[in-house]
Amino acid sequence: MEILLAEDMGFCFGVRRAVESMNRAAYEGGLVESLGTVVHNPQVVEKMARQGIEVIADLDEVKGETVAITAHGVGPQVLEGLRTRDFRVVDTTCPIVKAAQNAAKKLSEAGFFVIIFGDPKHPEVRGVLGWAKNKGMATTDVSSVLAMEKPPRRIGILSQTTQPPRHFSKFVNNIISSWLDRSLEIRVVNTTCDATTNQQEAALALAKRVDVMIAIGGKNSANTRHLAEICNDLGTETYHIERAVDIQPSWIKDKERVGITAGASTPNEVIEEVISYLRSMAEKSPSK
Ligand code: F3S
Repeated sequence: MEILLAEDMGFCFGVRRAVESMNRAAYEGGLVESLGTVVHNPQVVEKMARQGIEVIADLDEVKGETVAITAHGVGPQVLEGLRTRDFRVVDTTCPIVKAAQNAAKKLSEAGFFVIIFGDPKHPEVRGVLGWAKNKGMATTDVSSVLAMEKPPRRIGILSQTTQPPRHFSKFVNNIISSWLDRSLEIRVVNTTCDATTNQQEAALALAKRVDVMIAIGGKNSANTRHLAEICNDLGTETYHIERAVDIQPSWIKDKERVGITAGASTPNEVIEEVISYLRSMAEKSPSK
């Protein structure tokens, strides 16, 4: 059995930057309380907890003086809450998310109804919608947008950074073809992230060459789920796992080539662990 790795996978620059900033702050000043998990990966969260970075759900839970904003960013209300309560803030919002927040703010101030193509429950999406002063909506289901009785006069469309660009284009095209004749203006800002796109392209290229794909990352990591989805959509048998122990021997039995990809929040050590586990299985059952 051959184990092949996607050319681009694992920590993106935004996540690496966030993890490093929080680690530095904890090293220099003790307890850091992170508003939500820094990345959707349980191993990273556990490791950071050992270094003095605790996860809290909201500002009412803060015990210390230093609060970290994750790479997903927050809305203006949370930022205001941090300012008024005088916490030391470690803001690790990814610059690409920051650009999406700015786009939402500008569109909303210019009178546009902001539609975000993304998961409405995801912290990044909630934050971006907050910058649109909640004058908008977030969904991945275009029919819930088109179900509006009357299209808004001015519409601004953005994407959650980790959504696959081709899904975003499809969503945008649907809105334009249904609503352009009834709206005054539709503006589209492509806020998808290159890091994710590159990883998706690398995963797709690999999925074409292997018998089975393994996508490594937290179960609640949106970008790992997307990686698994696009490989699966291609028709390649694909499994989304968090750790090596999740691998079922039946998935790789009699397979000649196994491909590995990993989400933008998956640390190297977890990827290494999966590779060595697969290698040991390959040694036990050499390919025919
Ligand atoms: Fe930023 Fe893109 Fe990573 S938005 S956090 S660099 S996936």
